[in-house]
Amino acid sequence: MKVAFGCDHAGFGLKEAVVSTLKRLGAEVLDFGTHSGDSVDYPDFGERVGKAVASGEADLGVVICGTGIGISIAANKVPGVRAALCHDVYSARMSRAHNNANVLALGARVIGPGLAEAIVEAWLGTEFEGGRHADRVAKIEHLEQERVQEAPRS
Ligand code: RB5
Repeated sequence: MKVAFGCDHAGFGLKEAVVSTLKRLGAEVLDFGTHSGDSVDYPDFGERVGKAVASGEADLGVVICGTGIGISIAANKVPGVRAALCHDVYSARMSRAHNNANVLALGARVIGPGLAEAIVEAWLGTEFEGGRHADRVAKIEHLEQERVQEAPRS
């Protein structure tokens, strides 16, 4: 299982805990940065992780910024990405089981490393249930396709 990882400077403090948890759970981590606490722009990292997941380079992705909001919005702009911002274990589990979320977003200024590790473990350990949930996710994909087809061609 390959997991793309990305964070901004505000998410950097949680990076070590999350990356080591991913590795402990057997994931191969593709590290898209950032690599220090120097100020960077969260959309760049949401984009890198989103594109890695959407292209199939990675199976799943984890992104972190201060709140998790900005970087999840950015990742969700990449067609094929379903990024879920989760700050509790139940939501993390449901985002996989019902929404087939392929990117997990966390806010390093919202939760600490202990909860982040529990969320990552629950998220990675839950499978998509399919069935009626697959039909609903297909409707999301349909919306996305409409947007892609409407986009002006360059
Ligand atoms: C950076 O200061 C902060 O705005 C960013 O990490 C994130 O929280 C944005 O949504």
